[in-house]
Amino acid sequence: MRLGLSLLLSTSCLLALPAFAQQAPAGPTVGNPANWPAAHSNGLIDPATEKFVSALIARMSVEQKVGQMVQGDIGSVKPEDLRKYPLGSILAGGNSPPLSGDDRSPRKEWIDTSRAFEKVAMEDRAGNLNIPLIFGIDSVHGNANVIGATIFPHNIGLGAMRDPALIRKIGEVTAIETAASGIHWAFGPTVATPQNDRWGRTYEGYSEDPSVVASYSPQVVTGLQGPIGTEHRIQQGYVAASIKHFLGDGGTTDGVDQGDTQVDEATLAGVHGAGYPPAIEAGAMTAMASYNSWNGVKMHGNKSLLTDVLKGRMGFDGFIVGDWNGHGQIPGCTPTDCAATFIAGLDMAMAPDSWKGLFESTVRDVKSGKLPIARVDDAVRRILRVKVKLGLFDPARPLEDKADAMGSPAHREIARQAVAKSLVLLKNNGVLPLKASANILVAGAGADSLQMQTGGWTLSWQGDGNANSLFPGATSIYGGIKKAVEASGGKAILSADGSFAAKPDVAVVVFGEQPYAEMRGDIRTLEFQPGDKQALAMLKKLKAAGIPTVSVFLSGRPLWVNPELNQSDAFVAAWLPGSEGDGVADVLVGDSAGKPRRDFNGTLSFSWPKTAGQFKLNKRDPGYDPLFAFGYGLSYAKGGTVAALSEDAGIDASLANTTIYFTKGVAPAPFSFATDSKVTRSAVDGPATQEGAQLLTWGAAPATLRIGGGTLDLTREANADLSIQISYKLVTSATGKVQLLMEGGANKGAIDATSLFTGETGTWRTAKVFLKCYAQNGIDLSKVTAPFVVQASGPLSFAVADIRIVSDPNSSICPGAAQ
Ligand code: BGC
Ligand code: BGC
Repeated sequence: MRLGLSLLLSTSCLLALPAFAQQAPAGPTVGNPANWPAAHSNGLIDPATEKFVSALIARMSVEQKVGQMVQGDIGSVKPEDLRKYPLGSILAGGNSPPLSGDDRSPRKEWIDTSRAFEKVAMEDRAGNLNIPLIFGIDSVHGNANVIGATIFPHNIGLGAMRDPALIRKIGEVTAIETAASGIHWAFGPTVATPQNDRWGRTYEGYSEDPSVVASYSPQVVTGLQGPIGTEHRIQQGYVAASIKHFLGDGGTTDGVDQGDTQVDEATLAGVHGAGYPPAIEAGAMTAMASYNSWNGVKMHGNKSLLTDVLKGRMGFDGFIVGDWNGHGQIPGCTPTDCAATFIAGLDMAMAPDSWKGLFESTVRDVKSGKLPIARVDDAVRRILRVKVKLGLFDPARPLEDKADAMGSPAHREIARQAVAKSLVLLKNNGVLPLKASANILVAGAGADSLQMQTGGWTLSWQGDGNANSLFPGATSIYGGIKKAVEASGGKAILSADGSFAAKPDVAVVVFGEQPYAEMRGDIRTLEFQPGDKQALAMLKKLKAAGIPTVSVFLSGRPLWVNPELNQSDAFVAAWLPGSEGDGVADVLVGDSAGKPRRDFNGTLSFSWPKTAGQFKLNKRDPGYDPLFAFGYGLSYAKGGTVAALSEDAGIDASLANTTIYFTKGVAPAPFSFATDSKVTRSAVDGPATQEGAQLLTWGAAPATLRIGGGTLDLTREANADLSIQISYKLVTSATGKVQLLMEGGANKGAIDATSLFTGETGTWRTAKVFLKCYAQNGIDLSKVTAPFVVQASGPLSFAVADIRIVSDPNSSICPGAAQ
């Protein structure tokens, strides 16, 4: 499968930073609790629980206490490890499989895994105190790691609904489906208030406006955890919530993931902190520390904010969990050694693969007094308190056997409502609603793509590699439209590439971003499809054929789509709607006379950019003037249309492209394609496009092909297992050595890629070479000026059609190593 990854740019792919990206002066780094709102944890402390916890703590060894404070990931810890290392918690990271080994598994495998760990934690053996584990997972839009779950719209879509009551129901369903999978703890809600749409986690936030975040956070906490005061909640189908990421995750400069939030204390508290006090009042049991810094100081080490503000001023009585090895980013710490984070106020470190080392070094630090025992006892008390309040000390878990809870019709109905309510109508010149009796072409890459509908944090970490068959019970947007029109004598024809045999009455073109999550979702500018405007080309083609078009845009953020808006008769922002495509049809398809069945309700919870460069101004800066303001949204009842928009991107658009090095016969800006004079070149047909490829022929002398431009830092991409994908066809097999390399940094080697350039001739093929192989072969990935270079020492001839960065670890290779 070829992934159109044009938007999966990473900010770490830095083309020399323009001047506007330079920082404001650093501000304060120590919070003053008096400047923060006071709050109070409801429902967490009661005398009986505290007494039980005190008695337990009195019996615990240092090792048993430290064990409670360390969380391992099920990809790196096995049940039997718990006999030696008494960890208090396990998590399933985005890519971490249950014990069966397949990350994409149904409920049963997750329960078996939960039980296998629990069994060892609770087994009778000498010295064991039988303290139950708490098992956490990223149930951030439903329990979307598990096959068959109901998958809700990501938070950005939920923000557009402005419906706190529905948010609570979504929390309840998420809790039921998480508990039914044997898991006790959801790593959500994200209560970030994202201020820069370039951030790849924008979609995890409800709104750029703190008041929307604050109106939702207590409702989702109540939905997940149940009403305050209920005892033993988990048995009734509730799970612990985790308000995250504390604090300032949505405010980093340039929207860089894990970056630095350079704001004053009032902004940190009022904009980024707004979701916390109401969630704490609602009884939130846990909070997750953030990767980002505040004015240069990492949150995992900021005692004034973790301890004095969160636990002190805001009265938070639950426990603070760290983020994935986030403690290791504190200066002086490593993932396996970090007393500083516990001293700052972290109660449980997320030490996915580093748990063993962190356990050992922390035991050492407690014994030497470096980490005071009073701090340890406080952390353990908070963790045990949550375990008691969750009912984990009680054996019965009736929901675990409720197989029919997953993706039940009642749950899907709630998700469908949320989809319908979250759609925002940006433009309509009258083509919507669609007549149910019409003949509708449903076109575009997203028309029948559940992975584009569901986005990141779905089945896998980044949400890609998920075929429709992995979503039993789900409905694509095409599927929803088809059901809606066929009931009234209409017809829906699926056509991913936009071609048609008979001219349809209207085309619904579903397009947007390919799935991404943290890091990989960071982009350089707000331009949609930089370097390769496939959706625009389809819209133009349909328009030229005289077919009215309705664009349904699937995205994790507002993007600059003025050219696409101009080519569309109607344009709907559908965000990342999840598993229930019927909700889209409910609003788009009217009755057979074309009267609406249901009106649009959604309004923007994030303002929409006027140019691709509008991120230069912070959303709250004076003079910020978006195309569509916060709160914009048309409806059938109100009407309203949009005049032709400027197609000036407002920024050097080529800045945006960091991942497509060659496509359709050319290197898109800022890259350029060059060969030594010894290589002959001519345009030839590509696998799908006429003249969409270049034929390159080497003679006897060594020569080079080079694609260069900009300066890229590809180190983070290499860590995330991304690859360079080359679509090519051998004309004559290589007779000498062929090497792949990059230029720019201090390079000491090259990949021997001869195997890729020998063998069968005459057929198009795809090779995916891990970026990490470049590093392993001595290439410096931190300052790349030419990301794709081929050196051949002798005769060779091949045609090349496409070269780009993709994520497909399962079919990527290291050619040198393969030999
Ligand atoms: C993310 C968190 C997530 C955790 C566990 C981190 O990388 O930042 O949001 O809960 O991993 O998957
Ligand atoms: C994510 C995990 C994921 C891991 C992959 C982390 O940053 O939060 O959930 O599985 O990276 O390496």
